[in-house]
Amino acid sequence: MAIDKRFINQIIKVSSKAALASSFLVGKKDKIAADQAAVDAMRSELNKIDMNGKVVIGEGSLDKAPMLYTGELLGNKNGDSFDIAVDPLEGTNFAANNLPGAISVIAIAEKGNLFNAPETYMDKIATCNVEKGLIDLDNPLKKNISNLADFMKKDISSITACILDRPRHKKIIDELKELKVKLKLITDGDVLGALYVSNPKYNVDIFLGIGGGPEGVLAAAALDSYNCHFQGRFIFDNDKDINDAKQMGIKDLNKKYEINEIVKGDSIFCATGITTSDFLSGVEIIDNNYTSETLVTHKNSNFKEIIKKTDPIIE
Ligand code: FBP
Repeated sequence: MAIDKRFINQIIKVSSKAALASSFLVGKKDKIAADQAAVDAMRSELNKIDMNGKVVIGEGSLDKAPMLYTGELLGNKNGDSFDIAVDPLEGTNFAANNLPGAISVIAIAEKGNLFNAPETYMDKIATCNVEKGLIDLDNPLKKNISNLADFMKKDISSITACILDRPRHKKIIDELKELKVKLKLITDGDVLGALYVSNPKYNVDIFLGIGGGPEGVLAAAALDSYNCHFQGRFIFDNDKDINDAKQMGIKDLNKKYEINEIVKGDSIFCATGITTSDFLSGVEIIDNNYTSETLVTHKNSNFKEIIKKTDPIIE
């Protein structure tokens, strides 16, 4: 079944209100406050929607985070049932330090259709749509890069790879350098990092490396609408994460998830800019109004656009 198009505007409002709330704390060196503002706004907007929503990816468990915890029920309990994934403030460092790339993100799918991701790291790979097996988490890096270069009819030296700049990626980064691949190293924000592959205008051919699992599910929801290729494998490397995964019903801890196992059926994804990036302008406040830019995808209606709108700060 499809998610009714009327939800698109409502979900845009959720992420743009969260972005607005967080924008007041940009550059205040307080990432917890900036996150909390986004969480509170998102929760209050979600509760206005006619739906039975359940957070499957949120801000941790009930005991750790008072709002938007995994399992929290949202909406005014009239209407369709949805799974909801949120990252009210993705790029907490960006917001706290007034740097490009802070966004507010949400994805919804019909009940049971969004992967209930544990809060662990995920090994990810994303490219444009390619045939099965060509680009795979289980392939050696060199094979993935040369397959992609052949597929895109490019030289390896003109392939650009985006990866989080982390010590854990030293081996991959060194190998990419040796292969003469162009690097785009990001300091944070791997939801947008993965989304670069959705459009040639961003000049990124492959996104790879280890980042947050929840961020992986959110990126997959958008990439699904762009018909891109995405795979993710959760990393369970301590007893707590292994036990949590088992409790969540994950039997094969080494399973590689394809995009259609992470997000099934229809979905809506919205990411609103808080600080300006090469993807989205940040929130701009003029008098009593704010202007925001939101990347919106709705799978069933093949809707993929950046929506710019101006609304009153207080309705
Ligand atoms: P926060 O907004 O929660 O700070 O996350 C930012 C982020 O860069 C994510 O985009 C990414 O998935 C994750 O952190 C990477 O984690 P780490 O900083 O531990 O490598």
